[in-house]
Amino acid sequence: MDKHNDYYDSYERRSAYRYRQNKRRKRARNQFIVIATVCVILAIAVITGICLAVAGSNSASVATPDTAATPPNSTDLTTVPVTTTASPTTTVAPTKPNTEPNESPEVNPTSPLEPIVTADGRTLDPNKPFLALTFDDGPSTEYTEKVLKILQKYNARATFFVVGSRAENNPDILKDIVNAGCQIGNHTMAHSDLTDQSSSAALAAVEDVNDIIYDATGVNCHIVRPPYGSFDDSVCSTLSAYPLILWDVDTNDWRTGRTKSDIVDCVMDNAHTAAVVLMHDIHKVTMDSVEDIVKGLTEKGYQLVTIDEVYALQGIELLGGTVHN
Ligand code: NI
Repeated sequence: MDKHNDYYDSYERRSAYRYRQNKRRKRARNQFIVIATVCVILAIAVITGICLAVAGSNSASVATPDTAATPPNSTDLTTVPVTTTASPTTTVAPTKPNTEPNESPEVNPTSPLEPIVTADGRTLDPNKPFLALTFDDGPSTEYTEKVLKILQKYNARATFFVVGSRAENNPDILKDIVNAGCQIGNHTMAHSDLTDQSSSAALAAVEDVNDIIYDATGVNCHIVRPPYGSFDDSVCSTLSAYPLILWDVDTNDWRTGRTKSDIVDCVMDNAHTAAVVLMHDIHKVTMDSVEDIVKGLTEKGYQLVTIDEVYALQGIELLGGTVHN
């Protein structure tokens, strides 16, 4: 009985074991099928996703005009009640409308300015730094020629606002200023405050200097720097034919105790495109500063230009009786 029982027990255990094993195998097979199915579904999903993405990007590059066209269309609609669907092509190219009207108006600050070729053959680029150095109260028999030599050494230009009482005795210096490619401006006959004078006296104070400049050089001077930067409405209407040119960088080189490094540092620290720098070519310290200034600015990439050029490069027309800077 024990034997039989043993046999029976072991048989039962074995069959139970086999049964469990079969069950386990079936379960494993089922699990494998489920996992494989899930993997296949996932793979198909990923592949179709990639395909859709690629197809989407391809069609997007073709379709962007339509989608991009909607905002311009909507802005168009604010100004024009009915627009055709042709507007996308016109709104997509913003550069064309900017360049086309550039030719008709004289001043168009939104349009890119073209390089300027000067009478003496220089090409000035409005997209690169530029500024104007100006020298007042000369000409000086001691310093003006030396300043001109330094400017010529660096192929730089400047503007000299001359005083008539000095200019009339130094026509050769005026000629040299012009021959150096520099500009002559009018700083009145006797450096008197124009606001203290009658209209006729103020006009004479300017026009007498223009005669001196013309006699010496054959050049018509057309810009005025009022002494002390002093002007009022009456001066502007009296000098309605002449643009009044001030400055925006003042070296204060005329002040007692001003050193070369003060002047050089002032210019280098405040230099910016379209700046008009005030100096005086009647002081030794100024003359001593000019080379460092011109060299330093040139190394920084500045085009050193005349007053006419500094405004032309900005597309600004110089207007008579109007204060500039
Ligand atoms: Ni002055």
